[in-house]
Amino acid sequence: PKPDLAPTPPMGWNSWNKFKCDVSEALIRKQADAMAESGMRDAGYQYIVIDDCWQKSRDADGNIQADPERFPSGIKALADYVHGKGLKFGLYSDAGSLTCGGRPGSAGHEFQDARQYARWGVDYLKYDWCHTGPRNAEAAYTIMAKALRESGRDIVLSICEWGTDHPERWGPTVGHLWRTTGDIYDAWEGQKDWSMGMTNILDLQVERAAAAGPNGWNDPDMLEIGNGGMTVTEYESHFSLWAMLAAPLIAGNDMSKMDADTVRILTNKDVIAVDQDPLGKQGRRVLRQGDLEVWVRPLQAGEFAAVLFNRGKAAADMTLNWDRLGLPATQKADVKDLWSKKVAKNVSGSYGAKVASHGVVMVRVTPAR
Ligand code: DGJ
Repeated sequence: PKPDLAPTPPMGWNSWNKFKCDVSEALIRKQADAMAESGMRDAGYQYIVIDDCWQKSRDADGNIQADPERFPSGIKALADYVHGKGLKFGLYSDAGSLTCGGRPGSAGHEFQDARQYARWGVDYLKYDWCHTGPRNAEAAYTIMAKALRESGRDIVLSICEWGTDHPERWGPTVGHLWRTTGDIYDAWEGQKDWSMGMTNILDLQVERAAAAGPNGWNDPDMLEIGNGGMTVTEYESHFSLWAMLAAPLIAGNDMSKMDADTVRILTNKDVIAVDQDPLGKQGRRVLRQGDLEVWVRPLQAGEFAAVLFNRGKAAADMTLNWDRLGLPATQKADVKDLWSKKVAKNVSGSYGAKVASHGVVMVRVTPAR
C-alpha cells in the first residue's frame, strides 16, 4: 500500500515558478538557508524541491547524473545540506523519455532512478508528463510509485500530468498529490498557451473537491506569492483560497529576498492551520453571485473556515449566512478574521464584512458548545 507520508498537504518550496532552468547547488543551499532563517520552516514549510533541469545525462550503466557544472558537489551532498537545516529534499523527473526541459526522463529507468534517489536521500519526487507518447498516465505513475516503495526510502510522489487523465480517480491510491491543471503563472487572471492566471486555475478546482483527503491531495499548482505579478491583496487571496482547497503549499518565490508582506502572507499561521486541518476535507464554493463568492471548508471538531471573495473592481459588503455552514440561525459562534486577527464573539445568524476589490475576508467560525 501507499506509504502514509502526507496526512496533511505537503508544504515546501520548488525552484520552477521563479527560477525555471536556472538551478544550481548554490541557489538550492541559499533557499534552504532562507527557509530555515526566515520563519518559513517554523511556519511548517519543509520540502526543498529542485524542479526541471538539474539532470544532465546518464552514465554508461544508465545512472542519472546531475549537471556537473551546476551541481559540482553532487546531489547527495546537497541533500545532506538540506537535511542539516532540519528540512527535507525533493527532486523532479518525468515519465517520458525526456523532461519538459529536454533532460533525460525516467521512462524505462524507473527502478534504477528510484534506487538512486533513495541513495541520495531524496524525500519527495515531482514526476512530470512531457514526452510520454502514448503512455497511459495511471499505468506510468503506478510504476514509479512501486519503484519508490521498493527503494527502501519514504518518498512522497507528486503526480504532475496536469489533470489530463482524471488523476482524481486513481491519484489517491498512487500518489500523495496530483496536479489538476496546466501551469500557473504570476497574474490575477489570463491564459497563455499551457499557463493560466491564479483565478483561472481556481475556477478549475471546483468540481474535484471530493477526491481530496488525508494522504492524497488535489494540487492546483505552486504559489506565486512574492514573485511580483500580483498585488499584496491578490496574493492574500491566492494564499487564502489555496488553503481553502487543502492545496499543497509549495512556495515558488526567492525566499532569500522576501519583503515583509511576502513573509507575512506565506507564514500566516491561522491560514496555514486551515490548510493543514487534520480532517482533510477540501473546501467548496457555496455561493457565486457575479463577482462575489463564498467558499466554505469544514474543519475538525465542528469548526469551519470561510472565505468571502470579491473579484470585482470595487469594495463590496458581503455576508456569510449560517445556513451556508449548515448551522441554525440561532447558533452562537466566535468568528476570527484570519488576516486582521480580530475576533467577534457570540455572533449568530450571519457575519458581514467589507471585502476589498480582488480581496478576501477569511474567517474561522467556532460554534459555541
Ligand atoms: C511542467 C510542469 O507542470 C511545471 O510545473 C514544471 O515542472 C515544468 N514542466 C518543468 O519543465
